[in-house]
Amino acid sequence: MTENRNETDYISLYERLKAHNEEGIYPFHMPGHKRYAGKAPVIDPYGIDITEIDGFDDLHHPEGCIMEAEERAAKLYGTFKTYYLINGCTGGILAAISACCGRKDGILIARNCHKAVYNVVMINRLRPYYVWPERHVITPASVKEALEEHDDIGCVVITSPTYEGYTSDISEIADIVHEYGITLIVDEAHGAHFPWSDMFPESSIKLGADIVIHGIHKTLPSLTQTALLHVCSDRIDLTEIRRYLSVYQSSSPSYVLMGSIDHCLEYIRNDMTAYDAAAVNGGTGICDTDHSESDYRRYTAKLRRCYEQLAELKNLYVLPWGSDRDASKIVICTDRVEIDGLQCYNILRHTYDMQPEMYSAEHVILMTSVWDSDDSYDRLVQALKEIDGGLDSRVSEDPEEAVSSGTDVRTTDKTYRYPHNETVTDIHSAVHADSMDIIFEGSAGYISCDMVYLYPPGIPYIVPGERISAECVGLLDIYKKRGYAVKGMADMEGRLIRVMK
Ligand SMILES: Cc1ncc(COP(=O)(O)O)c(C=O)c1O
Repeated sequence: MTENRNETDYISLYERLKAHNEEGIYPFHMPGHKRYAGKAPVIDPYGIDITEIDGFDDLHHPEGCIMEAEERAAKLYGTFKTYYLINGCTGGILAAISACCGRKDGILIARNCHKAVYNVVMINRLRPYYVWPERHVITPASVKEALEEHDDIGCVVITSPTYEGYTSDISEIADIVHEYGITLIVDEAHGAHFPWSDMFPESSIKLGADIVIHGIHKTLPSLTQTALLHVCSDRIDLTEIRRYLSVYQSSSPSYVLMGSIDHCLEYIRNDMTAYDAAAVNGGTGICDTDHSESDYRRYTAKLRRCYEQLAELKNLYVLPWGSDRDASKIVICTDRVEIDGLQCYNILRHTYDMQPEMYSAEHVILMTSVWDSDDSYDRLVQALKEIDGGLDSRVSEDPEEAVSSGTDVRTTDKTYRYPHNETVTDIHSAVHADSMDIIFEGSAGYISCDMVYLYPPGIPYIVPGERISAECVGLLDIYKKRGYAVKGMADMEGRLIRVMK
């Protein structure tokens, strides 16, 4: 039918973006600059979009202003070496794992890692071993057990914090990993803001990780795709890191993105000077006031007040923040009420003009940042109070348990969010195997060639090379019927899956 379409009968992506910006829908999602909701430099992107001309260095071979900018970033975060990334955390994850696993065949992965981790395992034909999260986090004991069992592991990859903001005990995990003479990579994509207030958990940079990857576009005021790769110990071969960063990142790195990283970090540096200067609570670093000059102090004071107000909700439940859960992610649990995550998300979006970051069956995640507008939290609290007032509390269940296990109290009592499928072969062999497309409903028992996930968060339910369990088919069917975005299947409609013959 496309040939009959009037050439002018469409709205371009560019026009859509401009219109959306003017609509007043509040962004409780990334990027952390919140589309200038706070303060940002007024720049013409064309005016600073150059290539590697005289005086502007080369990201892949930095000797001048980019080298100096990376050195300033390392100093700010207190790392051994920091690299600018212009292809998101994805580029950093691909480079870090490729550099660290070079001489071994095996890799130990937290099974709740982002799909980028599985993709680099495929590219490098690595043999994956998994540790599964227990109540949101990876336990040091499970890492030790896996390292004891397999002697071909080249590095360990953990995601901390999770999308819901939970952090694992990186300090103890790092000690264990180092006992075995290997390296720990922490995907801290959602934790680039951790060092900037005591309200947030400690960054893995300070906890013994060898490499930490930060998506600064996620939680700091920086443009989409900007990220940092931090090397935090002398166990890492910097030549290998540089080599793989050149493999996985564009040979024409955007100066607009690099300028955005630099501007963001300069802003943080200045704000930290103000933060340190503001004497609050007798210098304990605990901020409970908005009468200071630092944006981070104002931001965390607003967040604190928001949590206090949300604690008054009667039916919806808000995950508490603490030293092991990131306060910047406001997670609204719907498991005790008659609406699910998707319905809550739709009410926020369509009745209250707020765009959350994501929904799952049992919760909605709202992302905040230091550039949220002053009235955004009041708007959010007001909306949630109104939604809450119209709900019944129908199920009594520990809401934290529901998020951690994936228990879906509205269908069956125990449907785990990440059912354990048996790993039969490695990802590369499965992706390139002789295959056929079959109806997903009938795929239990077959070995998958596809990676199937909900996006966000992009954590695979099925990894290529896994035998698809009946439990997994059942759970994904429920998600599909409820309208959740199940991705990675053989067809765009999500009816077929590619399996090994
Ligand atoms: C935990 C985690 N790691 C890595 C990524 C990939 O990051 P990017 O989109 O910056 O490439 C994401 C994306 O959301 C993520 O949530």
